[in-house]
Formats: sequence, C-alpha cells, structure tokens
Amino acid sequence: MEAELQSLVQQAEAGQDSISTWPELADFKAGFVGPNGSLTAASKGIAKLPNEEKPVFGKKINEVKQRLEKVFESIRERIEATELADKLGPAVDPTLPVTDTEQGTEHPLTQVRDRIVGIFRKIGFTVVEGPELETEFFCFDALNTPASHPARDMQDTYFLPDDFKLKGEKRREDESFILRPHTSAVQIRTMTKRKPPVRILSPGRCFRRDTVDATHSANFHQVEGLYVDSDVTIRDLKALLDHFVRELFGSDAKTRFRPSFFPFTEPSFEMDVQTSKLRKLSGKWIEIMGCGMVDPNVFGHVGYDPDEVSGYAFGMGIERIAMILHGIDDIRHFYQNDLRFLQQFTGD
Ligand code: DAH
Repeated sequence: MEAELQSLVQQAEAGQDSISTWPELADFKAGFVGPNGSLTAASKGIAKLPNEEKPVFGKKINEVKQRLEKVFESIRERIEATELADKLGPAVDPTLPVTDTEQGTEHPLTQVRDRIVGIFRKIGFTVVEGPELETEFFCFDALNTPASHPARDMQDTYFLPDDFKLKGEKRREDESFILRPHTSAVQIRTMTKRKPPVRILSPGRCFRRDTVDATHSANFHQVEGLYVDSDVTIRDLKALLDHFVRELFGSDAKTRFRPSFFPFTEPSFEMDVQTSKLRKLSGKWIEIMGCGMVDPNVFGHVGYDPDEVSGYAFGMGIERIAMILHGIDDIRHFYQNDLRFLQQFTGD
C-alpha cells in the first residue's frame, strides 16, 4: 500500500514537465485527485484496513496529497510565468546601446543663470533663495520704498486678496501679500537673519503686471547681489562688476556707470556694457543692470548700524542678459517651448 502511494508522487513528479496549458493541468490533477483519480482510489482502501492501522494510513494519504499539491502549484506558476512573458513580448536587453532617443538640454535661461552664478561663486558669493510669494515689507518697506512709490501700484505689482493667509508667514494688518516684483527682497530676508559680513547672490523668478510684448513678460527672472562689510566702497562695486562683465562677455568688455535712482541704494547707477564680441551690438553701450551703495535706511530696517557697515547691491534680469549674449530679439521665445528655438542651445 505504502509503496503504491509513494509511486503516485513519483509519477506526478515525472509527468509534470509535459504539462503546459490550463486544460492539461486540469486533466493531470483529475488523474490523481479527481473522483476517478489514482489517489482517490487508493484512499478508498482505508475501509478494508484493521482499525488500528487506519490513522497511520490516513496520515500517509494526507502527506501524499500535500506533495501532489506542491507539484500542481509549481505547474501553475510555470504556466502563469509563460503567459506573462508572452504578454510582455521578447526579452529586453538593457545593456544594448540606445539608438533613437533625443538628448535633452538645459533651458537657455538656466544655462545663463548658471554662468552668472558661477562667476560670482568663484569670488566668494553664496547663493541664497527667497520665496516668490512675498510681503510688502520685504519687497518695499524695508527697501526704503515709500507707500506712494509707483512700483507699489496695483498696476505694476500683483497683490493677493486682503484675506489671503500663508502658513508660517506673518504680515502687518496694513500690509499685503504680493508676488515679488524683484529679487531685492532677498537682501532683507538675508540681513534680518544674519550678521554682517554678507556676500550673497540670489537668482529667482519675479512677476510684474506687464503687458507681454517682445521685451516684457509678466513672469521673468532676476539675479540680485549684495555685499555688506566694513568699509565697502563704490570702487569695490566697480571692480567687482568690471570683473563680472569681462568673465561673461569677454576680456575686452568695458563698463559705464550712469547716475540713476533706486530707493534702496544711494548713490544709484545704471550700468552699461560695451563689447566687440557681440556681433549685432558691437561697439554699442547696452544697459544691463541697476546697482548702488546700500541706503543707510535699509540698514536701519534690518538692525545693522550704518555707521559700522557699508555695502553695495546690484540686480539684473536673466532674460535680458541671455537675449544680449545670444542675440535673441523676442523674450517670448523663452517660454514657448518651441524645440526649434531650444535646440539651438545644446552645445554650451
Ligand atoms: N530691483 C531692481 C529692479 O528690479 C534692480 C536693482 C537695482 C537691484 C539696483 C539692486 C540695485 O540691488 O542696487 O529693477
């Protein structure tokens, strides 16, 4: 009897490889455990045994049943795996070289931002980022910009509704949240947190209520710079910016400073650059940034002593620099995701 049961297991194990479909598996199982199966028949023999042998025999039957189940299970797994492989198609070899993909590249604005940042980092500036959603305090008040200043007008700056709340950000009752119209706000955020000296550069996105045309965009990017220490002078500012334009535009680039006005610097300048390297603009003076010496009132707002420290600040538009460098005549090209435009900036 026992040898007979043992041979059932051997039969099943020997026969399993020939089963490859669900109907074959159903027949195969029925041959052992179906109503007319060999194990079913063998287990009927229990009735003829003396009572004391019945439990031992019953146990044997169960063991054989479990071993047969294991065989069925492994057939089932094999059929499922074959079905899945058929669905997935031929095996993929991930080590083969890729043939028909297109290589992406960084956006020209990202490339130009990184070039600007790279030049300043080499001479000790660290990059600091500030939020795009700001308060009037950081964008205007602390930057010595009076309530009546035109930049604070609803026509120029995006104001959020009066009941707008921002988690973790405080504002005075009479103050609004705004989309920052310039990155100069990061000067204030940095100085209110750190003691001098500070030497930072802050690239980022800005927003203004401009009507979009070839040179205006409601959404654009700036880089702000700030250096505060003891005895910082206009000469330091000029030396820094001379170095910057030579690195960016070539060794023959020259700078020119014209008196200007910004509420947060005194004196203030517009800086122009002239270079022979830019075909279309060769020999012309081109305005590229605003700059000046930090106004003592700004130091007052951040708790610095204007008798102890002095500093310079500057700010430029990344789009403008990119347009000058690459001879681009319409700012809208940057935002249209047109591959014919973007593909021209793959080889930097
Ligand atoms: N925030 C100015 C703007 O958006 C640019 C600027 C001018 C930044 C002079 C400065 C500065 O730090 O000193 O037009």
